[in-house]
Amino acid sequence: MSHKNQSGPRSTVVLIGLMGSGKTSIGRRLAARLGIQFIDADIEIEAAAGSTIPDIFELHGEQAFRDGERRVIARLLDGPVHVLATGGGAFMTDETRAHISKSAVSVWLRASLDTLVKRVERSRTRRPLLEAGNPREILSALVDERYPVYGEADIIIESGDGPHEPVVESIVQELRSFWKALDDDIDGEDADKIAAASGQETK
Ligand code: S3P
Repeated sequence: MSHKNQSGPRSTVVLIGLMGSGKTSIGRRLAARLGIQFIDADIEIEAAAGSTIPDIFELHGEQAFRDGERRVIARLLDGPVHVLATGGGAFMTDETRAHISKSAVSVWLRASLDTLVKRVERSRTRRPLLEAGNPREILSALVDERYPVYGEADIIIESGDGPHEPVVESIVQELRSFWKALDDDIDGEDADKIAAASGQETK
């Protein structure tokens, strides 16, 4: 995943989090800040299917949506470096989670239930999972089910109800530290290899 001694983003940055956590709006700003492309996985899934997400759920069922989501995200992860906003359920698919962990850096936008409810109520995006009942109750059940898995993300950032810019700045700082730690690891490995080849110890 890492390309040592580059100054820009080393790998695709994948935003994960529940519906209403701000992945699309924060992702757009983050991509502009990093100077790379922003891609919204849900829009790519709709383009690939030639159908809207509510229609895919209604006509073919959630499993068909998940299959399409898994394939589209795999293709995007194998493409050029970008910021990828994923739908809230994507990181719950084992294959997708493993692929993200291998070839990207994951950032969980963690938000409180109140923030999520407020944001989805304000949003015009149709979300089939929330149309099945009371959005607060559904989101609350999803918090219980998904937050332990989202906790596997490389970076965790609080996404409150305030302005997006400070959140974007926190992500940029965390990414820098993450990539620096990777570079330091690689430097350490190189030093170990050189020392082993010359019969020395590094520590
Ligand atoms: C879903 C979240 C949605 C969309 C689909 C299913 C989920 O994306 O992928 O409706 O399972 O949480 P957002 O998280 O961008 O709303």
